[in-house]
Amino acid sequence: MPIRLIQSLAVFGKALLDNPREVGAACPSSPQLARRIARLVARQPGGHVLELGAGTGAITHALLSAGVEPERLLPVERSARLTEHLRKRFPQLNVIHGDARFLPDVTASLPRKARQGITHVVSSLPLRSLPPQDVDQIMDGVRSVLGTEGLFIQYTYAIGGGTASAKGLHWCGRAVVWLNLPPARVDVFALEPQTAAAFARRASAPAKHGHAEAEWALSARDVSC
Ligand SMILES: C[S@@+](CC[C@H](N)C(=O)[O-])C[C@H]1O[C@@H](n2cnc3c(N)ncnc32)[C@H](O)[C@@H]1O
Repeated sequence: MPIRLIQSLAVFGKALLDNPREVGAACPSSPQLARRIARLVARQPGGHVLELGAGTGAITHALLSAGVEPERLLPVERSARLTEHLRKRFPQLNVIHGDARFLPDVTASLPRKARQGITHVVSSLPLRSLPPQDVDQIMDGVRSVLGTEGLFIQYTYAIGGGTASAKGLHWCGRAVVWLNLPPARVDVFALEPQTAAAFARRASAPAKHGHAEAEWALSARDVSC
């Protein structure tokens, strides 16, 4: 087992013991789940990416590998232990030790370009296990920091059921990733209905520009892989 994976599992296990409800998962995200999310984000170059609950950095790593430049990536993590791990693992990133319930405060210290140019919020937060008032507060914050054409990407282990919802956001599409422990479902939401409609149009069009588009074409029709 690679040393990096052992370190991640060890620090994740300790964070889980510190605060099981906030961590909300038995282990870090798989490379397959991380890559699925990262490829979607990397399709839209230029904007800043706020990553909520970055944990051990599995998705952070995939975002960087998919071509998101370090200066565009802003991981936010509440656990001091995991923040320290992230800062060691990604010295090139501005890892924010902060609480997603207070996003306007968390982003207040960022340069204006970053604050006003957030095109994606990627969330690993365990929204199903957090108290409902915390979830409301987090979603209010997401809406307030996300740019008008921005996307909110959230995964859940509740892979069945109907269309997911996120307070005040418009659902765009979903994908199921079986190669994760447990399998996960990724849902994509937009702030504006026009952005959601454009996402669905792009995703259901025949693939023209390669792998990523084809992949989300399937996902938007709820075909799993
Ligand atoms: C499911 S785990 C993250 C998994 C991550 N993708 C990985 O591979 O390690 C959820 C993370 O959200 C963090 N978290 C929970 N509540 C938070 C909050 N209010 N603000 C910021 N981070 C939070 C937890 O500390 C934990 O690291």
